[in-house]
Amino acid sequence: KRLVVLVSGSGTNLQALLDGIAATGTEEYGAEIVAVGADRGGIEGLARAERAGIPTFVRKVKDYGTREEWDAALADAVAVHEPDLVVSAGFMKIVGKEFLARFGGRFVNTHPALLPSFPGAHGVRDALAYGARVTGCTVHFVDDGVDTGPIIAQGVVEVRDEDDESALHERIKEVERRLLVEVVGRLARNGYRIEGRKVVIQ
Ligand code: GRF
Repeated sequence: KRLVVLVSGSGTNLQALLDGIAATGTEEYGAEIVAVGADRGGIEGLARAERAGIPTFVRKVKDYGTREEWDAALADAVAVHEPDLVVSAGFMKIVGKEFLARFGGRFVNTHPALLPSFPGAHGVRDALAYGARVTGCTVHFVDDGVDTGPIIAQGVVEVRDEDDESALHERIKEVERRLLVEVVGRLARNGYRIEGRKVVIQ
């Protein structure tokens, strides 16, 4: 299967996918990363792709007249690579109607909290501020809400008394990377169907 991965930052989830696929072998893993896209340049996520010899593309919101035009341009750039699955791995933009019309049902996101708790851009900070004793990460399909799509898998992380946002996020990301590699491989190898809110991996 063909994967396009979208990033906005350090790209450690992307790296986990690259390493996981390399360690398992593309055939056995069931998927390969055919391109990496971003909404900004100069980020470590893109450098990781380049080091791995994977084509990259950048589509910045500010280069387009409207958010809709950006969304369509991003969808076009992704479509060029004919992906079976698109993975948002720390991609910090909300995609629009056109992107979802073209890639809905095969667009996977990873979020650093146990949804439906603490959606949005500050899932780790919000869980900490709320006083949650456990949090974690959620791999889910993207729908037209913010972190509201059908859940595929979750991983749990305990909050420690001495945690600050960055320490907690680091521990979440360790779990998140393993979960993402495992889940994407299973989706790719086994196939799946989405029944309402339930994701059934065959
Ligand atoms: C992850 O925790 C992701 O869920 C979040 O941002 C982080 C991305 O990290 N929204 P990286 O770029 O994969 O290192």
